Amino acid sequence: MKILFITGNKNKVDEANDILSKLGYRVEQFLLDGQTPNFIEPQSSSIAEVSEFKIQQALELISGTTLENHALLVEDSGLFIESLNGFPGVYSSYVSETIGNQGIIDILANKSNRNAEFRAYSILYKDGKYYHGLGICSGRISFQIKGLNGFGFDPIFIPKSGDGRTFAEMNEEEKESKSHRGESLKIICEEINHPSK
Ligand code: IMP
Repeated sequence: MKILFITGNKNKVDEANDILSKLGYRVEQFLLDGQTPNFIEPQSSSIAEVSEFKIQQALELISGTTLENHALLVEDSGLFIESLNGFPGVYSSYVSETIGNQGIIDILANKSNRNAEFRAYSILYKDGKYYHGLGICSGRISFQIKGLNGFGFDPIFIPKSGDGRTFAEMNEEEKESKSHRGESLKIICEEINHPSK
């Protein structure tokens, strides 16, 4: 079954496809006339609220079109740094594009607490039903940028359940098995296969 992922981030699509293809789904980027639709990003400090807003906009957009019966996926995610009270959180994309990974390392230079977590809130809309999944990956911010794989903050994030390497030093499968995105999508698949209600 095909799932259309509404995101401008191709890395997210590839990761979701790697995870969900093992469960029999094919994930493709949602495009309208070859373009990612421009959604309004709500002012909210909650990734769950941002995801809700995204799925509602997407459903309005495809209402009455040939895409109407497709399964749709949205996700909002971010990096939450403990000593910065959860910043950058919902502003992760902006922070990543502006000060970047070195900027985060510089901000934390004299902080002893380097704990952080990645969170992803995914919503899948399929056959008139919504499936929600929150995935959290705990870890810490490295002292140096390391590794070439992945995207965004991967080169400065060391997951707790790993061996001290950053996500960017891991291959796709290793990251998938530990990541917030992997967890949020596995929760959704579990709910589809074994509905609680
Ligand atoms: P958004 O969900 O599109 O608002 O973007 C979330 C931002 O958080 C991304 O642009 C990245 O900077 C960061 N981010 C989310 N998930 C990951 C990940 O798995 N690795 C690295 N950075 C991530």
